[in-house]
Formats: sequence, C-alpha cells, structure tokens
Amino acid sequence: MPNLVVVGTQWGDEGKGKIVDILARDADVVVRFQGGSNAGHTVVTDRGTFVFHLIPSGILYRGKLCVIGNGVVVDPAALIEEMDRLEAKGVKIGKNFAISQRAHLILPYHKAIEKAAEQSKGSRRIGTTGRGIGPSYADKMARIGIRAGDLLNPPLFRAKLEENLGEINTFLERLYQVKGFHVEKVFQEYMGYAERLKGQIVETSLLLNRAIDRGQSVLFEGAQGTHLDVDFGTYPYVTSSSAAAGGAATGTGVGPTKLERVMGVAKAYTTRVGSGPFPTELTDEIGCGLQERGKEFGSTTGRPRRCGWFDGVLLRYATRVNGLSSLAVTKLDVLDGCKELKLCTGYRYGGALYKEMPADLQVLSECQPQYEVMSGWTAATTGVTTYKNLPVQAKRYLQRIEELVGCRIDMISTGSKRSETIILRSPFAPSRARSKS
Ligand code: GDP
Ligand code: IMO
Ligand code: MG
Repeated sequence: MPNLVVVGTQWGDEGKGKIVDILARDADVVVRFQGGSNAGHTVVTDRGTFVFHLIPSGILYRGKLCVIGNGVVVDPAALIEEMDRLEAKGVKIGKNFAISQRAHLILPYHKAIEKAAEQSKGSRRIGTTGRGIGPSYADKMARIGIRAGDLLNPPLFRAKLEENLGEINTFLERLYQVKGFHVEKVFQEYMGYAERLKGQIVETSLLLNRAIDRGQSVLFEGAQGTHLDVDFGTYPYVTSSSAAAGGAATGTGVGPTKLERVMGVAKAYTTRVGSGPFPTELTDEIGCGLQERGKEFGSTTGRPRRCGWFDGVLLRYATRVNGLSSLAVTKLDVLDGCKELKLCTGYRYGGALYKEMPADLQVLSECQPQYEVMSGWTAATTGVTTYKNLPVQAKRYLQRIEELVGCRIDMISTGSKRSETIILRSPFAPSRARSKS
C-alpha cells in the first residue's frame, strides 16, 4: 500500500478526521505533520464520538503506530488531557504512540501573547483558537523555541526558559500590561509533563522511514486546510503552519519522493471559522439552514462556523498547490432538500473575471462570486453507501465538481458514521486523472 497524505482543501473542518479514520484501517502508521491543538478532528464510531486535537485519528485501531511529527507544535497539558480522556474510554496509548523530539512546545506565555495581541488588533483580529499556535511557531522561526526533546534535558530546558522569559515578561508587562510568568513555576509544571511523556519522545523521522523501508504504508493526517496554510491561504487570516501537502515532508522528515498520493477532503459546500474573506458566504436563511443541518459549530472552540456555497475557485487552487490525486467530498447529506444549489466558478472584481485564486485580499474580500445554478434533490442521501443509489441531481452535482476542480472524486461521505460512506475507488490506487491547472 502506498503512502498517502490527506489534506483539507477549504478552511478546515472538512471532515478529515472521519476520512483519516476510515483510511487508517489500511495503513500501518498515521502521522500528524503540522498544527497543534487548534485542530479538532471528529470520529464517530460504535464506541462513541471522539474529537482528536493532537493525537492522530488512527489511534482507535490496535497495532497502528501513531506519530506526532516535528512540524506539530505540542501543548503538553492539552496532549496529556487528551491521552487521559482516551484512556478513560479504553483506548490504549503506549508503544503505539510517539512524539518527535524536534516538535516545538507551546508554553503558557505563547497563549498570553496571543490573547493580548488578538485583543489589541481589534477589528483586524484573526479570530484564532487561542491555543498559542502562532506565537509558538514564531519562536521556532526566531530560533528561540523550546522543543519536546528539551523536556528530557532539564538543565537545558531551564536555561532556555529563563532566557526567553527574561525578554517575554518585559514585553508582556510593558507592551500589553499583562503579568509575566515565574520561571520556577513553569519549569516545575513542564518537568511534570516530561515525567509523563518521556517514553514517547523519540526520533520519529527514523521510525517513519524505517517503516517505509519495511514496506509499511504511512498515512499523513493534515490539520486545518489549504486556505489556512501560512503560504497558500488567505494571508494574514490563516494559521501559522504549512497545512498544504508540502508540509507533510518538512513536518515529518519523510522525503517528498516518498509521499505517493495526496487526497483532498472537501465539504459539498463551504465553511469557515474565524475572520477573513469568504466570497461565497451566505448570511441569509440558506446559510443558517446549512449551519443547522450540518451542525456547523467548531469541534475545538464551539464557535459557529460561517457557511456558504461550494467554491470551485478555492478547490481548483487546492488541487494545484497540493497536487491532489483525488478528492473525498463530505457532508453531501447536508444539501438534501435544497431546491437549488449554486457552484462558484469565478470571481468578478473591477471589471475582471478571476478564474484562478487571487492572492490579493482586497480582491477576495470585495469580489462578486460568479455562480452556476443546479437543481437540488429531495430524496435523502443520509447513509447512502453506493453511488448508484444517489439521486440523479446529486450525481450531476458531484460530476460538475470534478469538472470544475479538475480532480476525480474517490470517496463521498453521507453522514458522520464510518458506514455512511461511498467508496468509489481506493485513494491508495494509482491515479490516472492528473490535476488540470
Ligand atoms: P475535521 O477538522 O476536518 O476533522 O472536521 P471536524 O471533525 O471538525 O468537522 C466535521 C464534522 O462533520 C464532524 O462533526 C463530523 O462528525 C461531521 N461529518 C463528517 N462527515 C460528515 C457527513 O458526511 N455528513 C454529516 N452530516 N456530518 C459529517
Ligand atoms: P481542523 O484541523 C477550522 C482557524 C481559526 C482562525 C485561524 C488561525 O479541525 O480543520 P490558529 O489558532 O490556528 O492560529 O487560528 O485558523 N483554524 C481552524 N479552522 N479548523 C481548524 O482545524 C482550524 N485551526 C485553526 O479559527 O481563523
Ligand atoms: Mg475540525
């Protein structure tokens, strides 16, 4: 079985957790490569509903290795809480779970800096999840980050912490009038986490490459989505990591030649949490209907998700920048009962028609989406497991998505449960249809 990268193609929450959980059955290793506990990946099983924030969605299967790669930023408190919650539900976490020694840590000051910075931005705030993600990645790039491996070397951890807090406390107190942090208190707190996690912190690049050399297959679980990627997203309204497929190589230490397939997960419509442009957003009762039927409330923060029509421009771009080999379209059932459906095929702005994703935020914020209208369907698609049992209008809608986006659909999700899925082809299979950019 080849290696497969799974990424979000929109602004996150596309249903990656459900898709990764299904695909994990056929993989040997599941690895997260970026983001942190800002992610919320939902998996609905007979044993209950699980929301994963840091732990890969493959942990529910026995005998799979689950890895947090070097590209992830780890909040040890959030991780331990997640481990405890899973263990309470009978999920075994031991030798089947590894954390990269190179993964950067989130420290309490990262959350404090983020909170203060968001408050001071006022109407220009990003609407982050408040998990300290941006400041932790900023420290990584500024080369003052503290890594998971440092937890295993207490004197080094202390020295780094002391040096950082010397500056950060002044910054917090003088610029934001926020109380600083006590070195000893933070040190003791993190040494407690070290005690719990020390058996898990290893050289994960070696583990992953050895698994591949043995012929095992690795599933790379993306978090967030392409349009939240720090390079390819709607900057600055993005997260601070490489959520697109390229991040799978830099975030794990598995070379790009070994990432054989890339599956993009897309909702059959579009949602976004937090601030930033959203050309096909619906602020009317149709949008409210999607939000209600799709239960569009954040898995991490509980915030309502903004909803809108399917955007072909977003997806076409995601196909290109990720080199998608196929798509999984989720939440088709949420469109049941819509009289008509709109698909965005371009943006109009200043007399020009944009068929490709503009980088200019002003264009994205002020453009008028150009729509194609299709008939909806009245029959329920919830729980449909074969393509032939879909209403003809739903088939036409999906075919039109494939044409607009230039990528084949391999999976269709018709409900949150594992069984509520149509598998047209295994995404591990060789891809003939290439992205048409
Ligand atoms: P992720 O962050 O991409 O993993 O997505 P989330 O878990 O944050 O959000 C997706 C939500 O949609 C979760 O509550 C899933 O249980 C649910 N879901 C996934 N696929 C489907 C589907 O096909 N239909 C419906 N109705 N819900 C789905
Ligand atoms: P999953 O993996 C949806 C959004 C936040 C905010 C922006 C920056 O569940 O799809 P951050 O805390 O990352 O600095 O916030 O990114 N965001 C997400 N939106 N799904 C996610 O993850 C997200 N992770 C971050 O709402 O707009
Ligand atoms: Mg989510």
